[in-house]
Amino acid sequence: MSVTVRVPAKVNVQLAVGGARPDGFHDLANVFLAVGLYDEVTVEPADELTLTCTDPGGDPVPDVPLDRTNLAARAALALAGRHGLGDPGVRIRVTKDIPVAGGMAGGSADAAGALVACDALWGTGASRAELLDICAELGSDVPFSLVGGAALGTGRGERLRPLPVGGEFWWVFAVADGGLSTPAVYREFDRLSPAAPAPVAAPALLDALRTGDVERLAATVTNDLQPAALSLFPTLKQTLDAGTAAGAVAALVSGSGPTTAFLAADEAGARAVADRLAASGTCRAVRVAGSPAPGATVLSGN
Ligand code: C5P
Repeated sequence: MSVTVRVPAKVNVQLAVGGARPDGFHDLANVFLAVGLYDEVTVEPADELTLTCTDPGGDPVPDVPLDRTNLAARAALALAGRHGLGDPGVRIRVTKDIPVAGGMAGGSADAAGALVACDALWGTGASRAELLDICAELGSDVPFSLVGGAALGTGRGERLRPLPVGGEFWWVFAVADGGLSTPAVYREFDRLSPAAPAPVAAPALLDALRTGDVERLAATVTNDLQPAALSLFPTLKQTLDAGTAAGAVAALVSGSGPTTAFLAADEAGARAVADRLAASGTCRAVRVAGSPAPGATVLSGN
């Protein structure tokens, strides 16, 4: 018996960040959009909790912890804890296609995937509300990985309101050499913006999503973490410029970076931007993905 769950990456089309709260987190108006790049999480019974992480070709993925600090392992432990299952014997296999430490919520995706997969494997029958509650405990972006589509995240990003999306949006993602630590980017944000105003979702951006208007979305995407990410990773400016020169209609850092995201007019446009960006030599790899994408989905259980 094993269960496999597929979980999408995300891009933040608006990331409005307020000042640091007493608990160290920042209030956000975070407009999440799930994109069609996926990790898969497979769980099966085992003598003890183990975790592996390989790329789609089967090679090990560097820089991913394989112990109980991995968010996917923590998700399994949290579900088992709540349902009195003790220390769970489960083998967790992550097939990782989402860039690691890239600002695309790959770790959060694995947590949401492990949670849904273990719930199915163990027959715990957790309600959606309970799953979302566990997700919020695990990390600010994890609830969105579960629900997918598009949503406005408030609070520290974990309180979600689903958003309607009236069309497809196509993206190119440029994977950088190296990663950025999310807490470090928020610390740099605090240094650069000591008096950040309360974050508010932009009505024009929500309208662009609702109507599927790519030009309007291009004109309204923003990321308040971008100056901080560029300050810590200055060469990203060259990647952003290369994407714009390659024909992207908008260019921004994805979440806390260092992946950069480029909105294209349509799928053919995205493929053309990707080819030119790959040839520019300003990034390690490029990926094309459509949006919105569905949230955590059980692919198979047998
Ligand atoms: O919630 P998560 O564990 O993903 O957050 C990682 C780190 O990012 C936090 O420890 C915090 O430094 C920063 N963060 C923040 N405000 C948020 C979300 C994350 O400061 N709303």
